[in-house]
Amino acid sequence: MDLRKYRQDFPLLQETAGHKPVVYLDTACQSLRPRQVIEAVTRYYNESSACSGRSMHHLAADLTRKVDQSRELVAKFLGAARKEEIVFLRNTTEGINLVANALGLQPGDEIIISDKEHNSNLIPWQMAAKKRGVIVKVVPSKPDNTFDLAAYQALLSPQVKLVSIGFTSNLDGVTVPAEEIIKAAHKNRALVLLDAAQTAPHHKINVKGLDVDFLAFSGHKMLGPSGTGVLYGKYKLLQEIDPFLVGGDTVATSTYTGCEFLPPPEKFEAGLQDYAGMIGLGAAVKYLQDVGFDAIQKQETLLNQQISTGLAEIAGLKIIGPADPRLRSGITSFYIDGIDSHRIALMLDQMAGVMVRSGQHCVHSWFNAHNIYGCVRASTYFYNTVEDAEQLITNLKKIRKVL
Ligand code: ALA
Repeated sequence: MDLRKYRQDFPLLQETAGHKPVVYLDTACQSLRPRQVIEAVTRYYNESSACSGRSMHHLAADLTRKVDQSRELVAKFLGAARKEEIVFLRNTTEGINLVANALGLQPGDEIIISDKEHNSNLIPWQMAAKKRGVIVKVVPSKPDNTFDLAAYQALLSPQVKLVSIGFTSNLDGVTVPAEEIIKAAHKNRALVLLDAAQTAPHHKINVKGLDVDFLAFSGHKMLGPSGTGVLYGKYKLLQEIDPFLVGGDTVATSTYTGCEFLPPPEKFEAGLQDYAGMIGLGAAVKYLQDVGFDAIQKQETLLNQQISTGLAEIAGLKIIGPADPRLRSGITSFYIDGIDSHRIALMLDQMAGVMVRSGQHCVHSWFNAHNIYGCVRASTYFYNTVEDAEQLITNLKKIRKVL
């Protein structure tokens, strides 16, 4: 399948007056957006700029229907049992904070995370440790940075209430064996939350098949508008847990001394929401389904193989994670001892408009533990081409000659 045809949908990939097309290799931070998503957002402001779920007038009723349709699209995208299991939020981070604050964790309860968590799946648990006396246990990865199931199983105990793991790492693109992790946790009567921020854009997810309890992802890494995200939760669990943020539109009624919460997902969506974002996220899901995950993965693997082969020719360059690019999804993270990653990133942009992310990628804990100062991360998506990968390699070789 020729994916090049999709490039014409992305305004930033077109040469227009005043700007050259970009070589965008920073999708793991935020993806580019196709015009279909941009237009869906704009249509909200032009045609349905009202509140959802409140007023009776036809603009509001029309918007309520559109938000509902988006929720349905996301539910099907994840293989959820019902659309009420989809809570719209701002991002993955908000989803994880919701679970951390709503689960009613008690002193002595244990949480298991991995040693490669993004700060969004680390700091909420550190706060839970500080405020609630929760104990955080960290699974060490294998030497090649893949998940160590045996080390994980050794940490499971009756005190473990939740296993909260990054499904696909934003550091090296490695995807964990979620099914085995979930089975072992459930055997131990622990719940599982997956941080799917780097999975949902690249891999088909089926929450029912996985039997995962909670799963969070962001819209802006998968063609959706900025500041959009989703928390999936099994309906029964969403019914049981308390909301985290409370206020307008979360309750059926209130008195001066109490309230009656609405059922999920409403009880979690406090205050006026980003309706344009919700609709835009629905458009992103539709677009991704049209491209298809088989084609997405094929292209990412092809590019990652090309990039990894090219980088192997650069003296002193080390790739983070397994040597086999097929295990690193669309991500290639690398560093050269003694050379600042930000300097490389700036030079790539200045020399050829090649956009990558540099630094510690919100995984400071891993870098600190490994005494590595930072890395350059090239992350691809289906809109990237072999020419993009070639630009990265050629310019890195030039940079290496002068640094
Ligand atoms: N989590 C995003 C990244 O890894 C911001 O770049």
